[in-house]
Amino acid sequence: MDPVRNPFAPGAGRRPRELAGRQAIVEDARVAIERAMLCKPSRSQIFLGLRGVGKTVLLNTVEHMATERGHLTSSIEAPENKSLGEQLLPRIHQVLRKLSIIENAKGKTFDAMRALKSFAAAFRLEYGDMTISVDPEVGVADSGDLENDLPELFVRVGDAAKAAGKAWTLLIDEIQYLSEKDFAALIASLHKTSQKDLPVLFFGAGLPQVAALSGDAKSYSERLFHFPEVGALSDKDAIAAIRQPILDEGAMIDNDALAEIILKTRGYPYFLQEWGHQTWNLASDNKITLKDTQQAEATTLARLDQGFFKVRFNRLTPKEREYVIAMAQLGNGPYRSSDIADALGETPQSLGPRRAQIISKGMIYSPSHGDVAFTVPMFNEYLLRNLANLS
Ligand SMILES: Nc1ncnc2c1ncn2[C@@H]1O[C@H](COP(=O)(O)OP(=O)(O)OP(=O)(O)O)[C@@H](O)[C@H]1O
Ligand SMILES: [Mg+2]
Repeated sequence: MDPVRNPFAPGAGRRPRELAGRQAIVEDARVAIERAMLCKPSRSQIFLGLRGVGKTVLLNTVEHMATERGHLTSSIEAPENKSLGEQLLPRIHQVLRKLSIIENAKGKTFDAMRALKSFAAAFRLEYGDMTISVDPEVGVADSGDLENDLPELFVRVGDAAKAAGKAWTLLIDEIQYLSEKDFAALIASLHKTSQKDLPVLFFGAGLPQVAALSGDAKSYSERLFHFPEVGALSDKDAIAAIRQPILDEGAMIDNDALAEIILKTRGYPYFLQEWGHQTWNLASDNKITLKDTQQAEATTLARLDQGFFKVRFNRLTPKEREYVIAMAQLGNGPYRSSDIADALGETPQSLGPRRAQIISKGMIYSPSHGDVAFTVPMFNEYLLRNLANLS
């Protein structure tokens, strides 16, 4: 069918035509956002899930919803090599500049700007092309201890937002890449603003290991955050994700073709988009049939292998590749660390650092003690399919 009208959107963070199966999460976020505007307590949320399940799409949806309801928003993707303070500085500056033109908030915004200047000086943060034309406030956010200073800064920003009749929503993607220190300071900051009923809200997204990380960072994080799980779609939702966009374009799809796509993708959103996209392009008629989906399989898998899977694999060193290939050869996960060690002829202890390194790259995680699993759905199948070209 006409590729110009193709309604599917495989790609990181790309909003799908039909955001299937996430109504409850979106509704919870809406309530939290509206409560924050009223300075009522509302819990921050961290979306947890594997690669390609739609976490970034959800964060974007939430950001849009927050903006529409009067929040100022700051959105960050946690990188592996930049500190949280460095990333926050220009964004908080931008929020304060927007607040500074609101008459009722001028005084509080001025205070927050001074705290920001102290904070930047204490952590020797680069300003880039912005200037902060106020004097720092001595004794506020300038101790050099992040877990003390970041909460003070957040409180000042929350005070300014409140005075303006607004709220501030911070969104951080790929939260597993935050350092433990940054994460602890972030949690302490959100704890502080929530104790003071300030209109500050946080939405994060990350791989499943984040729940454990945040537990380590601060014991009260369980009470501070909701951790909505973002997973594969149920059959009903996966069907909607494929069928609805097709119907909206005035085309149709046979039930057995739908069933085939659900079977092959196991309801994982990224795979659904890619299968939908390729099948649409291949179908010659306005009605997609089982034959079309079967014919689309080779192209779809090639696209997934070259795009979605390979970029992840390429980030591993040769030794790390050996490790994940040994995992895949053991079948479907989760995998016992000792079984992987046996397969490689080593001990779990000697493989410990390698395993930790692959976890820190976000390629595998530990669902329970002594076990590891891939963070990328069906990664074992990808590895086995391409074994000859990988090692
Ligand atoms: N609820 C949904 N229904 C249908 N398609 C979806 C849904 N959520 C996400 N998608 C599609 O899945 C793909 C992946 O989405 P997204 O990039 O948000 O995933 P992610 O969880 O952030 O992945 P990663 O961990 O790799 O960053 C996109 O093409 C998006 O359009
Ligand atoms: Mg993402």
